[in-house]
Amino acid sequence: MHRFSYRNGRLMCEGVAVEEVAREVGTPLYLYSYNTILDHFRKVKSAFSPVGALVCFAAKANSNMAILRALAKAGAGFDVVSGGELKRVLRAGAHPKKIVFASVGKSIAEIELAVKTGILFFNVESAQELERIESVCRRLRRRQRISLRVNPEVDPHTHSFITTGHRASKFGIDRKTVIKLFQRTAEFPHLAFEGLHIHIGSQILEARPFRAAIERALLLVEEAKRHGVTIGTLNIGGGLGIVYHKETPQTARDYAKAVLPVLKRSGLKVILEPGRFIVGSGGILVTRVLYLKSSHGRQFAIVDAAMNDLLRPSLYGAYHDIWPASANGRLRPARYDVVGPVCESGDFFAKNRKLPKLHPGDLLAVMGAGAYGFVMSSNYNSRPRAAEVMVRSNKWYVVRKRETFEEMIQSEKIPPFLR
Ligand SMILES: Cc1ncc(COP(=O)(O)O)c(C=O)c1O
Repeated sequence: MHRFSYRNGRLMCEGVAVEEVAREVGTPLYLYSYNTILDHFRKVKSAFSPVGALVCFAAKANSNMAILRALAKAGAGFDVVSGGELKRVLRAGAHPKKIVFASVGKSIAEIELAVKTGILFFNVESAQELERIESVCRRLRRRQRISLRVNPEVDPHTHSFITTGHRASKFGIDRKTVIKLFQRTAEFPHLAFEGLHIHIGSQILEARPFRAAIERALLLVEEAKRHGVTIGTLNIGGGLGIVYHKETPQTARDYAKAVLPVLKRSGLKVILEPGRFIVGSGGILVTRVLYLKSSHGRQFAIVDAAMNDLLRPSLYGAYHDIWPASANGRLRPARYDVVGPVCESGDFFAKNRKLPKLHPGDLLAVMGAGAYGFVMSSNYNSRPRAAEVMVRSNKWYVVRKRETFEEMIQSEKIPPFLR
């Protein structure tokens, strides 16, 4: 349940009118509901409390410092995938022993930073990476816990770009190689092989693939024992789906109900890495209609946000609901392609979408934009990045100011021969 709803015909985020923030901050603008995000974090935490799970928010989904800080204060751990994310979550107040580090391509500098920080686990994605972590730990004279990320070869029935646990995926290590690595632990005296990690994909709507992947991972835990390796922690990844359109995803409680019996029986410590579930429906992208035009029978609503602000529709053909910020007296609907100003045909938010009759200047909210929204934004077409605002009850706070033209070009340099 999110906290965006209409009051007297005005779209509200908690107790704040979306129009009011847009008028003061301008558009395009990301608007986050603090209480929605916290509520979703607490839902996962409490659903998995019977196994005392550590919930590590996947910072890639939304790494705004205010959101990271809010979650850190609520007791969240973090799943990071780069040195930049690691630095962000530390700056936001994360406890090092609540940080896990995934990514198929960790650099030496990133490994060194994470070892010195004293993170809980590296989620290791290849034999070569394991060797590299060992050599960094040897040089630093440190011992480090690691989880092997096993590819469980399970199809989670989601978009192919966000499927990560099948055979052809670049993610994880296949079962045979994992077993070979269990046989080689003596070669890694600075590493403690204490965990297994799985993450099968994102926007997964049912529990079955999760349960299948967990059961496969537990077989490997048994196999590890036969090689003298005691796995004490299972990281079951993220992937919980949310409502974008007409989906009926499992709740955190449904998910827990389906997997807790096996997890409890295993006696293992449990880590989860949800991203989308925590922040997805807690954010919207607010945009203003610039122009309307019709062409060959199609009606276009050209808005001031674009694919550089929210890439998901262009990248995955993702569906996002679009709500008008004001619902007064707009009963005659029409169909629109809602498109941005960027010079790409893929720059759209909706196709042939039924909306109340629009006028230039109208404000629209692209719903469910809190996850994989701002974090994927770019300066394509030299468009400065949008502002981000957090609402808590009836107060709002700019948590990232709109980028200026000067900020956008500040790292660029003209070489002397062109001056
Ligand atoms: C290793 C890992 N953990 C967690 C997540 C978060 O997934 P979601 O946002 O679907 O919960 C991802 C997403 O790509 C991931 O790659």
